[in-house]
Amino acid sequence: MHEYLLMKRIAVFASGTGSNAKKIIDHFRDSDLARVALIVCNKPGAGVIGIAESESIPVLLMEKEKFFRGNAYADELKKQQIDFIVLAGFLWKIPEVLIRAFPNKIVNIHPALLPKYGGKGMYGLHVHKAVLDNKEKQSGITIHYVDELYDHGEIIFQAYCEVKENDTPETLAKRVQALEHRHYPALVEKLLRSV
Ligand code: GRF
Repeated sequence: MHEYLLMKRIAVFASGTGSNAKKIIDHFRDSDLARVALIVCNKPGAGVIGIAESESIPVLLMEKEKFFRGNAYADELKKQQIDFIVLAGFLWKIPEVLIRAFPNKIVNIHPALLPKYGGKGMYGLHVHKAVLDNKEKQSGITIHYVDELYDHGEIIFQAYCEVKENDTPETLAKRVQALEHRHYPALVEKLLRSV
């Protein structure tokens, strides 16, 4: 069989600028293990769509009604032979039907040290603001399996960074983002090697 057919096919779900999606695309560009085969997005005009287009990666634009009331596009993802789902700034809660269709094959990254600073409304600068308001000395990233609650599934990996006294949500966000970019692609690869 042609090598390409044996490759694992990753779908990256993202609704924002897509900087993590880009890092993951780059990481697997010449890999013999996997490729980013699909970008899934719920926001027309999101930055990640431009990235997908310039990389010639197909985009699946999801509609709310079908995502939450249908079978969350599980059929479509299976039809596209997706093996693994990586959430990178996807803000909709993943329905149970999709989790059941991809057991232990959906991961998310969160820009803080869960279980603190997670849950509904804890995204983007809100997270870093809360960390600063609580005068935390450190923050970081959490990569976890996805279950039917926000930011709740089993934690796979965490990395830490310092919170500096003069940090703003923006400066802290930058430090945390650097950790995301350093660790997420490599961690996805590690997980793919074991599925
Ligand atoms: C990241 O901070 C990630 O932790 C969170 O959403 C953000 C996505 O950023 N889940 P980007 O679109 O990859 O730049």
